Amino acid sequence: MGQPTHAPKGHDWWRSAVIYQVYVRSFADGDGDGTGDLAGVRARLPYLAELGVDALWFSPWYLSPMKDGGYDVADYRAIDPAFGTLAEAEKLIAEARELGIRTVVDIVPNHVSDQHPWFQAALAAGPGSPERELFHFRPGRGPGGELPPNDWPSQFAGSTEPVWTRLPDGDWYLHLFTPEQPDLNWAHPAVRQEHEDILRFWFERGVAGVRIDSAALLAKDPDLPDFVEGRDPNPFVDRDELHDIYRSWRAVADDHDGVFVGEVWLPDAERFARYLRPDELHTAFNFSFLSCPWDAGRLRTSIDTTLAEHAPVGAPATWVLCNHDVTRTVTRYGRTDTGFDFAIKAFGTPTDLALGTRRARAAALLSLALPGAVYVYQGEELGLPEADIPRDRIEDPMYLRSGGTDPGRDGCRVPLPWVADAPYAGFGSREEPWLPQPVDWTSYAVDRQSADAGSMLALYRAAVRLRPVFGEGPLMWLPAPEGVLAFARAHGVMCLVNLVDRPADLPSGTQLLLASGPLDAEGRLPKDTAVWLRA
Ligand code: NOJ
Repeated sequence: MGQPTHAPKGHDWWRSAVIYQVYVRSFADGDGDGTGDLAGVRARLPYLAELGVDALWFSPWYLSPMKDGGYDVADYRAIDPAFGTLAEAEKLIAEARELGIRTVVDIVPNHVSDQHPWFQAALAAGPGSPERELFHFRPGRGPGGELPPNDWPSQFAGSTEPVWTRLPDGDWYLHLFTPEQPDLNWAHPAVRQEHEDILRFWFERGVAGVRIDSAALLAKDPDLPDFVEGRDPNPFVDRDELHDIYRSWRAVADDHDGVFVGEVWLPDAERFARYLRPDELHTAFNFSFLSCPWDAGRLRTSIDTTLAEHAPVGAPATWVLCNHDVTRTVTRYGRTDTGFDFAIKAFGTPTDLALGTRRARAAALLSLALPGAVYVYQGEELGLPEADIPRDRIEDPMYLRSGGTDPGRDGCRVPLPWVADAPYAGFGSREEPWLPQPVDWTSYAVDRQSADAGSMLALYRAAVRLRPVFGEGPLMWLPAPEGVLAFARAHGVMCLVNLVDRPADLPSGTQLLLASGPLDAEGRLPKDTAVWLRA
């Protein structure tokens, strides 16, 4: 008998990985110019290895005019010079891998930068040209074509700006985000071909995974009809054509042992799970968990719904508390409304950071105890709060396009504090970094937290190191008083989280492995505290 054609595959690392999101511009500045870069990341790889993460997801590092923090890509095969070079990226990927850390890149398929050669060629070629077919160019409506071709809403919260821009030659083009991010026409075979080539390009450079930006937005109704709330199918969100696109992508990934994580914001759990069928994406971000308020019942429902929706397709869940688009966890959890919703973000929302931090510590132990992969956004392990950015320093188009009403996302993108007693908290810049750091930033610095056994960083380090004790098995809820989440995983290892005033007794005969905060004098679990226990 010959060898089996399908040798058994090794452990699927991505099913239970801890994946750390690096927003390069704000991670560490290696050349001192005020902007984080690949040299900064390379210098800090030992920090990431010590944290114990399995993979790094890099927000876009490609050539970009940075009109949307790099989500406006001018060349998907080149590194932006502010960040470094392709050769450096290759070194970084290899060096990380030597430390046991895989790399995930961020591909932005819905749109390109208006500086991308395809869009520049489309502009030059004029109305009716084949170059324009790669995008959505249309004549306008109304007398003289002065009105946009349809009424689709902007995908930037708070923006009332149109998603169409008119050119001097009379044509309008579609951009669900900023005018500098024209949407590609995914019905065009060249668009599909190009992106499959881009995927191969990065897999061949040793990346293990790809995060797919705006993954549910690529396909558009070819008639571009007006948007009618609730009409099915939606003309630009979650269209069935997408599944065919992702099946082709999956074939490319399978050739390279690569994996996908989709940015799929969809309220409907069943529609969401369709992206995770075995021949489509491996994983997708769990935004319902990210948006969930700090409430035991709501969290339990979110966890149950998540597990139930993933089970039939055999995909692992992901657990996400924050990223570069949303309010930082400690700030959100310290507010009256502890959920996240783009629509209700406002300047000056009061928060109690001590409370938020206590809850964020408990939430870290909760999410790291759940079955599936966990995402940690840079600075989350430091307990950084959302920063107030002076209005004249905000660069985020979400703020700019809301007419200054939406605070935007720069508050969660502030350069990291590494060394308390160094200029700019050791970010590495000689002059002020691209976004200003709050005055108390030094108190969050890595060196301070490394020396403090009670710090958020110490908790994350301990939790990531211990996490394998939970094994790969399912979750079983344990009987618990109202307001307490309690579940067991493999090997009698349990997680308990108390979200209410009444202290909770720990099950008898258990050994305390890790706690997010002190137990009370009677050894009970106080409010907003989580523990890991072994039977
Ligand atoms: C989602 C990204 O996470 C966000 O930062 C970006 O603005 C939009 N997609 C558009 O690319």
